[in-house]
Amino acid sequence: MFSKVLNTIVQQSTRQYSCKKGLKVTVCGGSGGIGQPLSLLLKQSPIIKDLAIYDIAPVTPGVVADLSHMDTNSNVTSHVGLDNLKDAVANTDVVIVPAGIPRKPGMTRDDLFNTNISIVCDIIKVVGQVAPNALVGIISNPVNSAVPAAAEILKKLNVYDPKKLFGVTTLDIVRSNRFVAELKGLQASEVNVPVIGGHSGVTIIPLISQATPNVSFEQDVLVKLTKRIQEAGTEVVQAKAGAGSATLSMAYAGARFTISMCKAILGEPNVIECSYVESTVTDSPFFSTPVLIGKNGIEKNFGLGKLSDYENELVKAALPELASNIKKGADFGKNYK
Ligand code: NAD
Ligand code: LMR
Repeated sequence: MFSKVLNTIVQQSTRQYSCKKGLKVTVCGGSGGIGQPLSLLLKQSPIIKDLAIYDIAPVTPGVVADLSHMDTNSNVTSHVGLDNLKDAVANTDVVIVPAGIPRKPGMTRDDLFNTNISIVCDIIKVVGQVAPNALVGIISNPVNSAVPAAAEILKKLNVYDPKKLFGVTTLDIVRSNRFVAELKGLQASEVNVPVIGGHSGVTIIPLISQATPNVSFEQDVLVKLTKRIQEAGTEVVQAKAGAGSATLSMAYAGARFTISMCKAILGEPNVIECSYVESTVTDSPFFSTPVLIGKNGIEKNFGLGKLSDYENELVKAALPELASNIKKGADFGKNYK
């Protein structure tokens, strides 16, 4: 069962790991709408000893000065501009990447491709050169294309390990848990809904049939719930009316995923998260499913599990968009210099 409340994660971390090696985590895009609250949450984790904040924004030393006054044990360092990325990722255990622009109303995540994929590739190239053994989580959109692009960059450097590259889809799980809890009058912290596929519209596939606790809905309610989960990012983009996309819930979800990677590196058993990874589970070469994460990355892919007929249809509907997103990202990565 996943840890659901960050405080619980932090407290458990303190009990279990306070005398073990602390880790270094690098947040690339750490001064942004996601990056700042994500760094705030990570600064509270006792299993993180060094927190490196990398960004191109001039405010970055200020963000770091601000964070560094918190009376938690980790040291926070500031790294501004591509020339300083090497220092940010040197000896790092985990790299988490929320760098790039967010959507405005009317845009798809794919509309961010031209700006964001080169940002991700610039970062991943340095990560591959300096920290090839780090576990890497990509938050930047479009995730469906950014992860295959990153894989190609790492392949060119001869350091690609598919077990160590993750697309962060945790927000889809967090949302599904919350929406199911609302509909069923459950505690959100007790609900776990696996979400598979990718991270855009129809590629987001909540597996309500595999939710714990076991829940069921009339078909019309299930269809509405599924659509709400698939379009939840757009719900936030529209509500923010041009001022960006989800940042706070993403920081929460991103902290959960980052701390899971850290716990796995420290040897905690049963660290399981859904993530968009290289995959042979379907015809799609990248696909999100629950994976067991260990010291060296993915140890086991749990696959699809038993799907309902409706969920099988959702998988079929997702595959063409995934194929096109993946090809676009991989082609960009292959041609990237
Ligand atoms: P933002 O604009 O508030 O912050 C982005 C940060 O990235 C800024 O600080 C900016 O200076 C920095 N940046 C830009 N170019 C950079 C570069 N070349 N190197 C390093 N840093 C750079 O945006 P945000 O709201 O934080 O969103 C960031 C990304 O996360 C967007 O692409 C958004 O679509 C995506 N996102 C993904 C999910 C998900 O579930 N995976 C959820 C929400 C948002
Ligand atoms: C989300 O799901 O909130 C993110 O992917 C941001 C977006 O553009 O919707």
